Amino acid sequence: MNNQLSDRIVNMSMSATLAMAAKARELRGQGKDIIGLSLGEPDFNIPDFIKDAAIQAINDNYSSYPPVDGYGDLKEAIINKFKRDNGLTYQPSQIVVSTGAKQSLSNVAMVMINPGDEVILPAPYWVSYSDIVKLAGGVPVEVPTSIENDFKMTPEQLEAAITPKTKMLWYSSPCNPSGSVYSKSELEALAAVLKKHDNIYVVSDEIYEHINFVGDHVSIAGIEGMYDRSITVNGVSKAFAMTGWRIGFIGAPEWIARACNKMQGQVTSGANAIGQRATIAALEAPKSKIQYMIDEFHKRRDMVLELLGAIEGFKLNVPEGAFYIFPDVTSFFGKELRGKTINNASDFSMYLLEEANVATVTGEAFGNPNCIRISYAASEDELKEAVKRIKEVLN
Ligand SMILES: Cc1ncc(COP(=O)(O)O)c(C=O)c1O
Repeated sequence: MNNQLSDRIVNMSMSATLAMAAKARELRGQGKDIIGLSLGEPDFNIPDFIKDAAIQAINDNYSSYPPVDGYGDLKEAIINKFKRDNGLTYQPSQIVVSTGAKQSLSNVAMVMINPGDEVILPAPYWVSYSDIVKLAGGVPVEVPTSIENDFKMTPEQLEAAITPKTKMLWYSSPCNPSGSVYSKSELEALAAVLKKHDNIYVVSDEIYEHINFVGDHVSIAGIEGMYDRSITVNGVSKAFAMTGWRIGFIGAPEWIARACNKMQGQVTSGANAIGQRATIAALEAPKSKIQYMIDEFHKRRDMVLELLGAIEGFKLNVPEGAFYIFPDVTSFFGKELRGKTINNASDFSMYLLEEANVATVTGEAFGNPNCIRISYAASEDELKEAVKRIKEVLN
């Protein structure tokens, strides 16, 4: 039989972060001692108070199909969270709970993007944005940013990227992979550009909201004139270490939320019942209950920056949130190391894997070919050992 796969899937790239994790697993299988710094996943266990809520939900027999857009009391908890943390007011009809923020993003793409619509992605961007947009028939328009500008898009760059076909802007703050956090004034400047154009919508991916070391998280939906054109995406994977429980959500204009609900009703139905019940406990808890994880990430960021800073050739900025460092490694391009020529970030990342047994991810996967992403969601000992090995193979 000939391969009859659709063009849609054939044209889709494999998730680079998952591909790197698979390669690291394969090498581990061969007995190599690989330190994995490639995945975007907290290395903490889920806090006990959240586990208890899940156990309670199992015992309370939360076993039938939940409502497609989420349990009513979870939506209330999300509404309270948006009000408390972001100053945003939503009604239940504006909230949709999904199987992770990834599905929230995918729903939004499917309900908002027509074939040929352009979606502006400040690069580096999260690895899946480009493929999710393409899957919906959209055209990703990458706007390259530089380490000198902390990987942030300027209003001038945004203006220059807008065409009559522009439908949306998608960005994350704190950003995966750069860790950059847009300030209020920076978002106001971007909003001022968007407001000059009718019918451009914004996806503000705030999944790393709490892992923010400058303490100034701003939702663009709260900026004057932006509420009706913003879709605020969030979830519990990162700050609550609940990646495997697969719960994400949006707050959006009602017509968009309704469309996402319709989409989800045909594709997956409601998100996992037990995960939803546990999410109520997570969102209702004071931030002090998860502060220990944020403090730990902060400490590790400082440590890894200091250690990497001592290696010649890494160009670094100071990421203000998330749990990644995104060094520019162009000074290694064109060099030969241990008989291997480094032509680009992918070669460099592969060199670190094969020679230092440290798994990172090439920046190319995030739309930036000059950098690599190093996740510091690993123990202090692993991080120290990883940087020691990297130093050795670069000397
Ligand atoms: C920026 C960003 N958005 C969304 C997601 C997806 O999160 P979830 O686990 O809720 O699907 C991730 C996960 O890596 C992410 O880094």
